[in-house]
Amino acid sequence: MYLDIESKTVLEVRIIRIATILTLFAILGSGLVTFTYQITAQHIAANERATLLRTLNALISQDQYDNDLFNDFIWVQNEELLGTEQPVILYRARKAEQPVAVLFIPVAPSGYSGAIRLLVGINYNGTLLGVRVISHQETPGLGDYIETRRSNWILDFKGRSLTNPNESGWKVKRDGGVFDQLTGATITPRAVVKAVHQALLFYQQQRPALFNKDNVAP
Ligand SMILES: Cc1cc2nc3c(=O)[nH]c(=O)nc-3n(C[C@H](O)[C@H](O)[C@H](O)COP(=O)(O)O)c2cc1C
Repeated sequence: MYLDIESKTVLEVRIIRIATILTLFAILGSGLVTFTYQITAQHIAANERATLLRTLNALISQDQYDNDLFNDFIWVQNEELLGTEQPVILYRARKAEQPVAVLFIPVAPSGYSGAIRLLVGINYNGTLLGVRVISHQETPGLGDYIETRRSNWILDFKGRSLTNPNESGWKVKRDGGVFDQLTGATITPRAVVKAVHQALLFYQQQRPALFNKDNVAP
């Protein structure tokens, strides 16, 4: 079929118009997706920060420190003792310029369903302020008793240290240690107990450097 020149021009104009409209829609659509993503990411970051602040305050009360805890942090890295090759954030609590405690987020890499992120608080003298679970994928109804909303299991760490119990006691009871486990779900607490013990070893090795005021996050 042959079109005369006038019909061809009309057709070309229509094609260009449709292409322009489609391009505009594509630009608008991707702009909208980017905008929504940025708003959502900001919300997630704000929520995570609020949750972390609540969790930090569950381990250390505000009268125990007088520095700006959230802005007095460093990044530490030790794959063997912190359970991850990634840098781990470590907050430093001080009162009247004196070191009070550290709170940091090591990983128990060998949970039943992978990594369990913990918040571990350690007093200057090496006793545990306590431990909380930040995130995990353990099985609901089986491995999730490590969460405080499911049981008090994790509260047993408060006050413990490298000498309470001694080295051989830092295991679940099934393995000859002092820490309870739920029969039929021992893998999860075993991973957590090991990670907390290693966090204490890390603290013992690194304590002087951790509180050094010249040591600041880049
Ligand atoms: C579907 C499924 C999910 C499980 N989830 C967990 C879990 O989240 N945590 C855990 O410790 N064990 C879990 N288990 C059980 C472990 O495979 C393992 O049998 C148990 O941890 C061993 O504990 P025990 O030595 O007290 O018997 C799960 C088992 C199955 C079949």
